[in-house]
Amino acid sequence: MRNKIVAGNWKMNKNMAGTDALLAELSAKLPNTHAKVMVSPTFVNLAGAVRQLEGSEIEVISQNMHFAESGAYTGEISADMLLDIGIKTVILGHSERRAYFGETDEILKKKVEAALANNMTVMFCFGEELQDRKSGNHFSVVESQLKNALFDLDPSAWSSIILAYEPVWAIGTGETASPEQAQEMHAFIRKTIATAFDQTIADNVSILYGGSVKPSNAEEIFSKPDVDGGLIGGAALAADDFIAIIKAI
Ligand code: 13P
Repeated sequence: MRNKIVAGNWKMNKNMAGTDALLAELSAKLPNTHAKVMVSPTFVNLAGAVRQLEGSEIEVISQNMHFAESGAYTGEISADMLLDIGIKTVILGHSERRAYFGETDEILKKKVEAALANNMTVMFCFGEELQDRKSGNHFSVVESQLKNALFDLDPSAWSSIILAYEPVWAIGTGETASPEQAQEMHAFIRKTIATAFDQTIADNVSILYGGSVKPSNAEEIFSKPDVDGGLIGGAALAADDFIAIIKAI
């Protein structure tokens, strides 16, 4: 059975004091929920966040990692370094990494394989740009993003994969995909995985929606049968909003 998940992608926000304060507020207000709750502060605040949340239900996850085990990659962080401080899940393929830092499907494939080889869980992000949707190519773009990074994986690897469909046109724009658009794409993603692998794998993978999820629209999006939760950006930075989104699931 797939899990319900609400994850906060904090992006390049919150210094150490801000991280401490937001985590303290989230911990104090966390509702009872069947969903897995995850937060991803910046690299420099991950170790502190893990310490602060020790014994909590909230999992601290990373926004990125490099594919190499170690070596001359100035400014980069390896799987081993993340594991060493207690991080077991990594977000890979976020559209901001693809757009601003040149991360291609080929690089992402290496990162996914490196994370899995280190027994980490991968939250793999993908999604079409506005022009793809306008030209009706959104399904083929999404299919090729999945195929290029994930379809050479061993079927057993899928128990360590979480998918996050984030249409680029909905990220940080206030323009959310309609619940129907999200459901349509999530069902397509599941069907694509069933065809490439099998129906059990497709049925068991959690597929999150991301892109301008907020307290006012979360419940309707989460009510769709193929939407297993959300990857939340801006609204994850305010405890009350994030808590309201967790309650919506
Ligand atoms: P927003 O919720 O701010 O649109 O960001 C979504 C996102 O990019 C999460 O990874």
